[in-house]
Amino acid sequence: MNSQHKNMPAKANQQTYDLFAPSALDNSYPLFKRMREEDPVHYSESFGYWVLTRYRDVEAALRDERLSSDRTALFINQLGNFDVKEIQNFLHLISKMLLEKNPPEHTRLRKLANQGFTTRAIESWRSIIQNTTNELLDNVQNYGYMNVVSDLSVPLPTLILTKIFGVPETDRANFIKWAMDIGTFFGAPGGSNIEEFARKADLAAAEFSALIRQLIEQRRRQPGTDMISLLTVAYLEQGFNLDELPSQCILILNAGLLTTTDQISNGVNALLRHPDQLQKLKQNPTLINSAVEEMIRFDTSVPFFFRIAKQDLTIGGKDIPAGSVIALGLGAANHDPEKFDSPSVFDITRLPNEHLGFGAGIHFCLGSVLARMELTICFTTLLTRLPNLSFDPDKQAIPTKHTTLIFKGFDSLPVKF
Ligand code: HEM
Repeated sequence: MNSQHKNMPAKANQQTYDLFAPSALDNSYPLFKRMREEDPVHYSESFGYWVLTRYRDVEAALRDERLSSDRTALFINQLGNFDVKEIQNFLHLISKMLLEKNPPEHTRLRKLANQGFTTRAIESWRSIIQNTTNELLDNVQNYGYMNVVSDLSVPLPTLILTKIFGVPETDRANFIKWAMDIGTFFGAPGGSNIEEFARKADLAAAEFSALIRQLIEQRRRQPGTDMISLLTVAYLEQGFNLDELPSQCILILNAGLLTTTDQISNGVNALLRHPDQLQKLKQNPTLINSAVEEMIRFDTSVPFFFRIAKQDLTIGGKDIPAGSVIALGLGAANHDPEKFDSPSVFDITRLPNEHLGFGAGIHFCLGSVLARMELTICFTTLLTRLPNLSFDPDKQAIPTKHTTLIFKGFDSLPVKF
């Protein structure tokens, strides 16, 4: 795509910014810094898309109406020679998600989706979050060690969301699998197993939709206080077609799972790597809100999000043709020294902290209030109940093996307490 573009850097430059290189996967911030300093609006020939790494460009792009959130072209682009018919279930599912829509359709869907996130509803979930966190820590408290990923950060958002959605316990394992399979394909992968990812995402889309349709039908007949009921009632009241509701439910579930899972492990990692800040937080627990914001800024779980140029445009002096895919570097922007003093310093008292971890503009994270509540309760409970938390010196932390730029977290994070 766009291989003839006049602003495309010389080929020799291309290899120097490998976002999937082992060193970048281990710690991407030095590479982001280099890109921001050398070529902040970079065209990656190997990926076929533009990469933005400056705060001002990323923030402007998030608010730019000339950029589309409909990424169908990106998903199809990823397929190479693979037949697009193989991902019809996936494309159908995402084509109705508000995340993929532009105004005015986005405005209508976002208004409806807001009905699932009323202040009253969110407040009523507080006890679910607290009890679930306690139950998970009860399971490990007596052992003196745990794996933050498998014992806490994966099950916590999954249990919370499935409880909020009123999903039967027997379907929870499938949920994680479907969310992972869809999430893995949801973004431009660097790996070579694209056909396998595409098939898995398509199957997951079909199976996930079937279950959600069943639940919507149940709640339509017998509404409760869960999110599916709230959304079903809102759709019916507004006279909207329930056919598009499964997509919104799956979006909310998907958007709320991996993101929060990864943010918990990234946050634990940041705290344990900065014992002075950990100590400060333990001594002054009222710093939890600004500590959570700093965890998101310092090592966000969503380092990139994609847009497509609807028309020819210029960013940072580079001409970007219509149809180009643009990767907005949220993680890179959060470390831009033009915006943040000493950006590589982890400072839980940082104020102001206008990070882009939840995006900006009309697609600003719909679940940000819930996510902040989950993280605040999780970290407060963790440090109160396990005050001696430290890395387990006998076991290795393993960062996620990336197949997509969108998510960043850990596959394994062993700790002692
Ligand atoms: C720390 C955790 C989270 C992070 C870092 C995060 C990050 C983001 C970002 C960056 C966007 C903007 C995407 C764009 O501009 O296209 C977004 C949108 C969204 N998020 Fe989150 N998110 C988190 C948690 C959640 C949770 C818990 C939920 C719901 C349960 C959720 C639901 C959504 C939805 C539905 C959207 C789409 C909004 C729209 O298109 O209007 N997120 N999130």
